[in-house]
Amino acid sequence: MSEQLPALLGGDPVFAKRVPMVRPSLPPFAEMEAEVRDIMTSGMLTKSKYLRQFEEVAAEQLQVKHVVAVSSCTSGLMLSYQSLGLKGDVIVPSFTFMATVSAAVWVGCRPVFVDVDKHSTNSQVDKIEAAITPDTTAILAVHNFGNPARCDELEAIAQKHSLKLIFDAAHGLGSLYHGKPVGSQGDAQCFSLSPTKLVTGGEGGIVATNNSALAEALLVGREYGNNGEYDSAFAGFNARMPEFNAILARHSLGMLEQAVTERNRLVRFFRERLEALPGIKCQSIAKEDRSSYKDLSITVEESEFGLSRDRIRKALLAEGIDTCSYYDPPVHRQTAYRHFGEGADLPNTEWLSKSSISLPLWSKMDPIFPEGICLAMEKIAQHAKQIRSTT
Ligand SMILES: Cc1ncc(COP(=O)(O)O)c(C=O)c1O
Repeated sequence: MSEQLPALLGGDPVFAKRVPMVRPSLPPFAEMEAEVRDIMTSGMLTKSKYLRQFEEVAAEQLQVKHVVAVSSCTSGLMLSYQSLGLKGDVIVPSFTFMATVSAAVWVGCRPVFVDVDKHSTNSQVDKIEAAITPDTTAILAVHNFGNPARCDELEAIAQKHSLKLIFDAAHGLGSLYHGKPVGSQGDAQCFSLSPTKLVTGGEGGIVATNNSALAEALLVGREYGNNGEYDSAFAGFNARMPEFNAILARHSLGMLEQAVTERNRLVRFFRERLEALPGIKCQSIAKEDRSSYKDLSITVEESEFGLSRDRIRKALLAEGIDTCSYYDPPVHRQTAYRHFGEGADLPNTEWLSKSSISLPLWSKMDPIFPEGICLAMEKIAQHAKQIRSTT
């Protein structure tokens, strides 16, 4: 039947209008209206009560002593690395977003790349321990796509070797490690509130920590390093979160549980349909954990599916479906960081970077979208041979 032909071979596309990767679910404006009016009429646009309210609510939700809101996850990482006094080598994954590493280089550290597990896509704990030398100052771990890192094992290694442990938790709001929100483990966890995340402030980030001295340093750091008496305690910068963004973030946080429940339900649907196709696997999440599923990332074993990742992406685009290839290239092959990565042994990172596809996943998704995306993948799988020989 011609309608079952992939669009790349002349069939009808599944979607006439492009399906985007991200569609943020925002709180209804009416819910925020009085607070927005309040800041507009009072003129208190920054450093005021809505920032503090958001920090308090977030700390309670993450079950952590302190939350310091900042202008982005990246600025949170930079201030955390600086405030924790990192000096020397930091152990990082390369299969991550560039900001995990850029923030470390900004504070003068040298990234040492370790490989990730092919299935969880998080750093391999034994590889981290093997990479520790007398120059190592910290372990930087990522909850990749929302999949919690192995927090207990990482804490044990950090303690054993007297290293700092910082989590890039950009994707982590909604993630549970052994039933508990990620946020309180390690020395600090930095979350992103950009619009691709489950909770958004428009832009913004938060740092969660149980370390009161660190929280204090972050408060000074996000204010240029000003100690409150117009003297610079150290060189900080402006990393403040304005009041409007704090209002939006607090209301958005109120929608988190619903968002993460829905994403987990959607991923169960996708997993059942997509893993029935040859060579397709979804990210594996430990059974005692919950992923936020900030992204739905699948991998393609080309020899089994019959098409490369890039050909599948092209075929999906012809069906009207946007995708991303997170993370390709991985950080150690990007121009600014290549010299740090020379000689690094990262076979799983290399394989994941050429085999991963992120598919559209939203916190509110009409069933026509997951159904249509699975149908498109099924059509492409059935016609892999023709696609390979004709395109
Ligand atoms: C893993 C990771 N770390 C850090 C960041 C940076 O976050 P932000 O844009 O809030 O600085 C991102 C952004 O998506 C990310 O994916």
